[in-house]
Amino acid sequence: MKPRVLVTKRIYPEAIEYLREHCDVDYVNNDEGLSAEELEARIAGKQAVVSQLMNKFSADVIARLEGVKIIANVAVGFDNIDVPAATRHRILVTNTPDVLTETTADFAFALLLAAARRVVEGHQFVHAGEWRKWSIDLLVGHDVHHKTLGIFGLGRIGQAMARRGRGFSMRVLYHDAVQAPEAIERELQAEFVSKERLLHEADFVSLHVPLSEATRKLIGEAELRQMKKTAILVNTSRGPVVDETAAARALKEGWIGGAGLDVFEREPEVNPTLLELGNVTVAPHIASASVDTRREMSLLAARNAVAALEGRRPPTLLNPEVWDSASARTGS
Ligand code: DGY
Repeated sequence: MKPRVLVTKRIYPEAIEYLREHCDVDYVNNDEGLSAEELEARIAGKQAVVSQLMNKFSADVIARLEGVKIIANVAVGFDNIDVPAATRHRILVTNTPDVLTETTADFAFALLLAAARRVVEGHQFVHAGEWRKWSIDLLVGHDVHHKTLGIFGLGRIGQAMARRGRGFSMRVLYHDAVQAPEAIERELQAEFVSKERLLHEADFVSLHVPLSEATRKLIGEAELRQMKKTAILVNTSRGPVVDETAAARALKEGWIGGAGLDVFEREPEVNPTLLELGNVTVAPHIASASVDTRREMSLLAARNAVAALEGRRPPTLLNPEVWDSASARTGS
């Protein structure tokens, strides 16, 4: 009998085809997905789950999973899954790193450029038929080149963002829980600084940290007040990394200059103030949304699930200790 896998929401068809070659697939082939109750009911009898960020796997939910070997998340972020709880229950958890790094950094930089150079305002201005004459200060924005880019989180995507900054002759500062190896700092010409110095000196503050209790509200009122009045905040990480109410106030009252936001605290809800402001460019959590990348993310999650079901180590495992202890027991 083939192993059974639940796919909780629509993904790219190539991934479903691949799964079907190896498993019995229970496919929720729509964009609505499942409620928490439906999810739990539908997992019964499955050995693998291909999940997405709206599927919450708390410690309680995980404790009730029976026979599930792997949760394969179609995202690099995995704040929807209590990984330590999964580890305690010997459930493998995987994410989809690497395949989305460059695509996500492209979009973060696009938001940075759009906010600095008022791309969306210009588009709306022309569409609204308001463009009647050229004038010297029509929709003037701020330069990006040779300015200071401050990056929170110099992981894969943060590094890719730094490279883009260097391509625009920017000075790159970064802050992270751990300083990057010297070789990386040298390659990126990125300087490790305190949080305070980054906030004071950066013209652009771009967030690339995972969401955890340590990074929740990393940017709140105190931090926003330390930023330059002209600074632009870019968030393509997770919404709760920014205190959205404080950010809306900061943008409205001019504590900072603008923002490019792809993620929000209560998606798909967005603080209404943010939507009224011309200095805020918003997007619906699409930083990794290129055709190639979303297909690759779907396929990588499928490959992770099949590997676990076939007794092979999943390529992008988040809790290798589960695998290592199982291998030790079986002697493989
Ligand atoms: C990710 O991969 O974490 C993106 O936010 C899409 O889910």
